[in-house]
Amino acid sequence: MKKQFAFCLLAGILWTACSDKASLEVTNLRCESSIDPQGIDLPLRLSWNLTSSHRNLQQTGYRILVASSPENLENNRGDCWDSGEVLSDESLHIPYQGPRPESRSTCYWKVRVTTNRGTSAWSSPASWRMGLTQPADWQAQWIGLNQSFPGDVLQGKTRLSARYFRKEFTLEDKTLREATLYISGLGLYEAYINDTRIGSQVLSPTPTDYSKTVKYNTFDVTPLLSGSNNALGVVLGNGRFFSMRREGVRHFGFPQLILQLEITYTDGSRQTLLSDSSWKVTANGPIRANNEFDGETYDARMEMPGWSRPGFDDSLWRSCEVTSPPGGTLQAQRNKNIQVMETLTPTSIREVTPGVHILDMGQNMVGWLALKVKGDKGQTVRLRFAETLRQDGTLYLDNLREALVTDTYILRGDDQPEVWEPSFTYHGFRFVEVSGYPGQPAPEDFQGKVVYDEMDLTGHFETSDPTLNQVYRNAYWGIRGNYRGMPTDCPQRDERMGWLGDRAVGSLGESFIFDNHLLYAKWLDDIEQAQREDGSIPDVAPNYWSVYTDNMTWPGAYLIMAQMLYEQYADPEPIARHYNSMKQWMNYMREHYLVEHILTKDTYGDWCMPPESPELIHSQDPGRKTEAALLGTTFYYRMLYLLEGFARLLDKPDDAQAFAREAEEVKNAFNARFLHPETRHYSNNTVTANLLPLCYGMVNEEDQATVFGHIVEKTLGEFNGHVSTGLVGIQWLMRGLTQYGRPDLALQIATNRTYPSWGYMAEKGATTIWELWNGDTADPAMNSANHVMLLGDLIVWYYENLAGIRNKPGSAGFKQIELKPYPLSGLEWVTASYHSVRGPIASAWKKDGGVFRWEVTIPGNTIARVYIPTDGKGPIMEGGAPIHSVPGIRLVETQAGYAVYEIGSGEYDFASDWAM
Ligand code: BGC
Repeated sequence: MKKQFAFCLLAGILWTACSDKASLEVTNLRCESSIDPQGIDLPLRLSWNLTSSHRNLQQTGYRILVASSPENLENNRGDCWDSGEVLSDESLHIPYQGPRPESRSTCYWKVRVTTNRGTSAWSSPASWRMGLTQPADWQAQWIGLNQSFPGDVLQGKTRLSARYFRKEFTLEDKTLREATLYISGLGLYEAYINDTRIGSQVLSPTPTDYSKTVKYNTFDVTPLLSGSNNALGVVLGNGRFFSMRREGVRHFGFPQLILQLEITYTDGSRQTLLSDSSWKVTANGPIRANNEFDGETYDARMEMPGWSRPGFDDSLWRSCEVTSPPGGTLQAQRNKNIQVMETLTPTSIREVTPGVHILDMGQNMVGWLALKVKGDKGQTVRLRFAETLRQDGTLYLDNLREALVTDTYILRGDDQPEVWEPSFTYHGFRFVEVSGYPGQPAPEDFQGKVVYDEMDLTGHFETSDPTLNQVYRNAYWGIRGNYRGMPTDCPQRDERMGWLGDRAVGSLGESFIFDNHLLYAKWLDDIEQAQREDGSIPDVAPNYWSVYTDNMTWPGAYLIMAQMLYEQYADPEPIARHYNSMKQWMNYMREHYLVEHILTKDTYGDWCMPPESPELIHSQDPGRKTEAALLGTTFYYRMLYLLEGFARLLDKPDDAQAFAREAEEVKNAFNARFLHPETRHYSNNTVTANLLPLCYGMVNEEDQATVFGHIVEKTLGEFNGHVSTGLVGIQWLMRGLTQYGRPDLALQIATNRTYPSWGYMAEKGATTIWELWNGDTADPAMNSANHVMLLGDLIVWYYENLAGIRNKPGSAGFKQIELKPYPLSGLEWVTASYHSVRGPIASAWKKDGGVFRWEVTIPGNTIARVYIPTDGKGPIMEGGAPIHSVPGIRLVETQAGYAVYEIGSGEYDFASDWAM
């Protein structure tokens, strides 16, 4: 009933074609839009998927109709746009080319495709709705209260009572057609109509640099209005607007609200309710303090029953001030809001000291605890949150630094149990200390609410090896726990920032598990907005922390993630949109830090590599550290390579050539400077020092085997088959080892249970991924148990190499797929699926005696190269028949250990001889 539609509706529509009912389906019609810097939603892009129970479905053309009414669409009148018959196999991101739809209008559309299996019927209709696309569409004013109240703390660890806003309004005596609410409340809002919560989002809107952009949310609130008298109520919390720490963290001001309720009657007339000085406001509600680091204090005695219903006595409330706007352009929020995505119940409760209980949620999770409690008025329950426990069973809080992580609930004293959860804070925790709870707490009195950006799950991965499965599970929990409208470094201590370097290649791995397209597209905008005028890109975006250190490895994530969006989602827009800023950044780095083609500047090194002694956070051993200029220069080279590709994509051949030329010069200078003339290793021969040039294509062919040999030797010798890299090297370790011929060593590293390894973390009880390889022994000063940066390319490797599901190099969005599994010794089976933008891809293999059995699914309108593992002895079968007799399967070549075939869409069942 409380449906949110952002600026446009995404319709999941399934239809069956009439020409060949069993064989052709077009699914998942969707409309996307981007937002130009003026806040205007353009261009609109349309996508769909094709599926078929028959094999080899290829689209050859399409016709799209967009109409202004369902009737027109029904009558095949594309009065907004009729694409005509277009000869094209493209089914993603087709730009809408009709006249610009007006703000607030709904567009109805359908598509008909021609394929090699005939023409489909028209699809069922889908629709999207335009947001407020023009600045002038906003008539409302920003309102708030620019002051503090007794109990508020404005310095240091800030405390601010939530602000409650209300306004009554009367509907006209007409029949209501629809009512739409456009709202942004900074930092965070909860909105109500007549006491009913609007939407199920939490911690919204999405965080931005509010001086540049403010995101608004849109809701269809028609069903919430009733009778003639109605009321709107909004509560504002601090979020990232009223800073958690006044020193060091960016501060924007006291919370502010803007909203516009637009009501349309069936006779076409309109009524609008705007935020303005006629609204009433109070800071005297139950939320006495809120702060994302320190927690929330809720005094249920101060509740104001009925405050968002008509007729409430607000005579003691004050009039709102019209505040000066935060400065940012109002834009519809494209990325999804945060939601409660899962609920956990404690696995145990233990009393550690009289009246103090420790709950174990069984999982390091991110969100908060909902509580059920019965007691006397004024009794106070206090909750504190931690990731681990001390020996004595009490909370271990040292690694949370200055975050107070305390939620407080003061009881009303009802006859019935009271139920509460916070609104404007979140914690990263497995354990909760409950004190002051009246009576004996039981597990059913608590619920752990797991919150993160509402994203579709795209992947599933399982294998015969329990360590790989457990690490995958830990990664899954870590990734979801670090989405907060931006990818954060950690969710628990007084940091929780969008550190770029942590997500460089990790974002690609994440995309196999979650549909992170819109979140990362939004983050690229955050990064661009944080770029300084001189071109410098920060390490943290949005720049709530101001960290401009001018290294290559952190800001480089900007380009790496744009490439990821193009590869995984076939979306060229982020590249097009950010190209100039990326170039400007490279110009800036070249100008300031490039000396004879060597990029000398680096800040973090190969961050958090395993140190030589257990208590250290960072290694002190020069032999383990990778040289700054090597890191800087390899990344600089990689950026030139990416930019060259971007320039080609954007049809800028001169730029492309210039980048390629410079890359050649850098490569030559790099080899002259860092490659040892005799032993052919780079710099001081760390794994990272050899791995980066190898994976980035900087090593001349004749040296590649030797350089790779150094990586293997170092890993097996000095590190006894264990990882030796930090955040930077780990981005290529698993794929590098696999590509150059030692996938077995990659598997060994991935399944180790001794230090340092992901398996070691699991062995020590981790249910997420640690910030440090030695997270169990290192100094707590920088030691979170829920960071994802050390995952590097591990998840990419799971999908691309173990399951063998990847984009063919050069393909965008899995138009061409490469399926190449590695049935390594030690693995019996892998079952994986990935819901790509073109539909589901699946790979499930197992070793069955001497036979390799492999079930594969390929989505419609794609082509795949399948590398079928074989020892070349017996025949290869598909569906029980010799493969050469199966129509539509073409042998491409045979390689060491593989027979390579080309196949079209459909489901396949291969069997081959496999004695290994
Ligand atoms: C963060 C990291 C970040 C690093 C860089 C740490 O405090 O938690 O994730 O990348 O700083 O300095």
